[in-house]
Amino acid sequence: MKHKTPSYTEELKRLSTLRQLSKIKTGVNSLHLRVVKTHADRDGLGTFPVNGQSFRINKEYLLAEFSQIYEAQSVERTKYYIKRLIKSLNEIRLGKLNDINLNRWKEYNDIITDSLWGLDKRDRSGAHSAGYWGNFIPQIPNQLLRRYTKRGEWVLDGFLGSGTTLIECKRLDRNGIGIELQPSIAKKAINAIERETSITSPKCIVAVGDSSEINISKKLKLNGVSSIQFVILHPPYWDIIKFSNFENDLSNAKTVEDFLTCFGHVVDNCSSVLDKGRFLAVVIGDKYSDGKLVPLGFRTMQEVLKRDFTLKSIIVKNIKQTKAKRGQDKLWRYRALVGGFYVFKHEYIFLFRKMS
Ligand SMILES: C[S@@+](CC[C@H](N)C(=O)[O-])C[C@H]1O[C@@H](n2cnc3c(N)ncnc32)[C@H](O)[C@@H]1O
Repeated sequence: MKHKTPSYTEELKRLSTLRQLSKIKTGVNSLHLRVVKTHADRDGLGTFPVNGQSFRINKEYLLAEFSQIYEAQSVERTKYYIKRLIKSLNEIRLGKLNDINLNRWKEYNDIITDSLWGLDKRDRSGAHSAGYWGNFIPQIPNQLLRRYTKRGEWVLDGFLGSGTTLIECKRLDRNGIGIELQPSIAKKAINAIERETSITSPKCIVAVGDSSEINISKKLKLNGVSSIQFVILHPPYWDIIKFSNFENDLSNAKTVEDFLTCFGHVVDNCSSVLDKGRFLAVVIGDKYSDGKLVPLGFRTMQEVLKRDFTLKSIIVKNIKQTKAKRGQDKLWRYRALVGGFYVFKHEYIFLFRKMS
């Protein structure tokens, strides 16, 4: 009769009953070898039933855990690591605001937790394209949606532009509503969002209008919901790029004070449907005007803080050179040397939590 190979959990449980360190290590070593030889997992031994569902385990994660167990110096420590691994393989502990399994947090290497973001390559996969001047790189909504929302929740983007956030919503199985002032841009966004394929098909709604006054509740009600769980705002950086001739386009604000007042109205309108305790993100950079730096980042941050929000993080993200500016490096360096300023290579992502 063929001997049945024990599952990882069964074998780990057996090892945790042994008294001799050398025997435990020999057992861990053979588990390590079993993972390395992937073909040995034909029987799906790396698949773990958790809460009634099957989860495949990440090979690198398992190898790193086995190495840690193997290198432990005492029986107590070794057994502690073994028990922790058994738990992480068999139990899910989800984050309060996301779907991150905290029992296997080491597997989420690609989720950034530092406040300095150096994102070099734009994600151009699927429907994403760099074609819209002033769009953000998809990794921004991707990171934020995975940290601050769960599958099936609702996300609002108050300045939709080319639809980057809703494309990410579709990928990550979040429902999304995006508001864009320009009908022609909204139409292009709809096409891009439709091009993105998705297995789960969450709802993606594009509304044309002014995000400082559009009736968001009404749009949500039509879809059977009354509130949302995350807001992302990527407004014009005042007048750096003139997006349209519409009077209520934030890029046409006459003064920085006007810009901030309009931005504040957008915050009021968008956050009116945001659940208490959930997050709002503002993505923005600064500008120079008449030989002076205009700190749009900190000014918009202050505008949000006049409302019922607490500041949770300030992320500084690198700005990668756009095609339009490539080749102008030397000119900007010269101008900076002459003018006594520094060339912007960063922008901000501010994260706020709604208090009531
Ligand atoms: C910086 S872009 C956003 C780009 C977007 N994150 C993307 O990835 O494509 C700002 C957008 O806000 C729009 N906009 C400006 N004023 C607006 C307003 N009052 N209401 C809604 N959208 C507005 C502009 O037309 C522009 O498309």
